[in-house]
Amino acid sequence: MNSKTRAAITGIGRFLPEDRLTNEDLEQMVDTNDEWIRSRTGIRERRILRDPKKATSYMATRAAEQLLEKTGVAAEEIDAIILATVTPDMFFPATACLVQANIGATRAWGFDLSAACSGFLFALSTGASLIESGRHQKVMVIGADKMSSITDFTDRTTCILFGDAAGAVLLEPSEDEYGLVDFYQRVDGQNWDLLCMLGGGSLNPPTYETIDKRMHFLRQEGRAVFKYAVEGMADAAVGIMERNGLTGEDVKFLVPHQANQRIIDATARRMGIGLDKVMFNIERYGNTTAATIPLCLSDWESELRPGDNLVLAAFGGGFTWGASYVRWAYDGSEVAVEREELATATT
Ligand code: ACO
Repeated sequence: MNSKTRAAITGIGRFLPEDRLTNEDLEQMVDTNDEWIRSRTGIRERRILRDPKKATSYMATRAAEQLLEKTGVAAEEIDAIILATVTPDMFFPATACLVQANIGATRAWGFDLSAACSGFLFALSTGASLIESGRHQKVMVIGADKMSSITDFTDRTTCILFGDAAGAVLLEPSEDEYGLVDFYQRVDGQNWDLLCMLGGGSLNPPTYETIDKRMHFLRQEGRAVFKYAVEGMADAAVGIMERNGLTGEDVKFLVPHQANQRIIDATARRMGIGLDKVMFNIERYGNTTAATIPLCLSDWESELRPGDNLVLAAFGGGFTWGASYVRWAYDGSEVAVEREELATATT
């Protein structure tokens, strides 16, 4: 094995459901208003996969298909599929298996990875290790979540935040110095109960009582999580910059998990970069958990060039958090799909 082999992102695919849930729609469902949601979170609308027969594997499959089409790679060439999600179709089999069958990746193995909003980052570094080991040539990393399936649409403190989507990237060995250069990742389970879904697992298997107590929905102590998230995401992003000798000037883009615009702003400030260098699409999609970072890469793909320094950063339930330093590997202008524009009127 060549010790300098790096894993480069060589393509991006994504899937966004067509149905939109706007802040105005939510005003009809719970006691909230557009101004509160926008000023506290930055969100105007999110996408919802309304068809009850379609789940996370559907969105992940569509993103994977787009990725194969854009890269010209055949499904049979894929060695492994790592799928980050907290909303798998079922406990088992893993949603990665369903995607493998749907796309016909006949040579692949794979698994699901559970790290909430840091899932894509953790899956990316795991996939990169498979490439760096020299054992794999093509690894598909997918972040996909049907958050509407675990959102309590009677709880105004959480239902305004989340949306459904999937994003996928292909990892291949880099022939130069491009690719995942470094990552910093942490978990801390001490405050697990500040952001969790209590029901459905081996601790609280489904019963009439767990349903009555609404335990099959995500719950969050927003204010407490906010404090940890601001600190965790900024510390990780600044830490990875320092470790690699990067200044704000060297960074082309911060690619942050999209949980709250204020958390992202604070991270950019700590990194010493202007907001023109930050990928934001929370306004259009809300928090899509494992899908936010690949969705950002997809929306900004046309602006990415070989050698661009990207800092990816996330914080989520667990707690889980981290940051990655990626040196971009290809000219995105020729392959990018069009950025989704906001459907509702913007003021
Ligand atoms: N509309 C109107 N008022 C509301 C709403 C709403 N939708 N939700 C809460 N309020 C009220 C509250 O009841 C509270 O009222 P009170 O002061 O009378 O008690 C007031 O607004 C302020 O509530 P806070 O919870 O303090 O609001 P905050 O400014 O903290 O914003 C938010 C809430 C957006 C959830 C924020 O705390 C946040 O972003 N937290 C971090 C989220 C995060 O990063 N999660 C990790 C990733 S997600 C994952 O891993 C799956």
